[in-house]
Amino acid sequence: MFNVKRKIFLMLAVSLAIGITVTAAQADDDHGREGHGGEGHVKTTLKAPANSLWQKECAACHIAYAPGLLNAESWRKVMAGLDKHFNSDASLPAREAAEISAFLQNNASGKTGAATLRISETAWFKRQHDGHEISPEVWKRAAVKSPANCAACHPQAERGNFNEHEIRIPR
Ligand code: HEC
Ligand code: HEC
Repeated sequence: MFNVKRKIFLMLAVSLAIGITVTAAQADDDHGREGHGGEGHVKTTLKAPANSLWQKECAACHIAYAPGLLNAESWRKVMAGLDKHFNSDASLPAREAAEISAFLQNNASGKTGAATLRISETAWFKRQHDGHEISPEVWKRAAVKSPANCAACHPQAERGNFNEHEIRIPR
């Protein structure tokens, strides 16, 4: 059952990838919201570097989280533990894992800093999402469920676009 589900997800992901021309992301260097510090600076519109293997393997269960959302050390840690990935087995043949890991680390938000497995645990994420206009109840809505579900509120998340003007909080 898991396999069938995963295949359907993969097919969806692949057709999405073909359908999307990744023009979205001129990195908005002059956006003025850089310098989140510490865990690397996250731009609200990330350049959308692509790697087809990453698209295929890392968009099967959730969106393919843009490499610029974590620092290199964090990606190394994520990729080193794929067999026990948030209670799922996301393991890959060594060669594929190495290619994806290199891609993620080369395009990461920075080389150093605290390593974390979760984007939603980074300091910048907390700064952007704690309080503000998101009440605690919002995170529990059926359409959101998890902070990891970026696309619930950032419809362009798959393209690395988290611009505040694109945010839609689901009811
Ligand atoms: C078999 C399903 C599956 C596959 C394949 C998979 N993941 Fe995940 N991933 C999960 C689950 C489940 C979570 C936890 C989601 C949640 O907490 O809502 C997760 C969460 C994550 C998170 C943390 C998100 C956050 O901020 O909380 C990262 C980063 C991540 N995955 C990266 C990857 C990468 C990179 C790949 C490809 C190598 C990958 N995943 C492939 C199932 C998968
Ligand atoms: C429940 C809805 C919700 C979810 C889920 C969510 N966000 Fe956000 N996000 C917001 C809101 C609302 C803001 C604007 C906060 C503010 O105005 O300061 C925001 C702001 C941001 C910003 C800064 C945007 C800007 O223009 O300054 C980034 C980057 C971001 N989110 C990334 C993410 C990532 C990555 C994920 C998933 C790991 C995620 N968000 C999940 C609602 C959400």
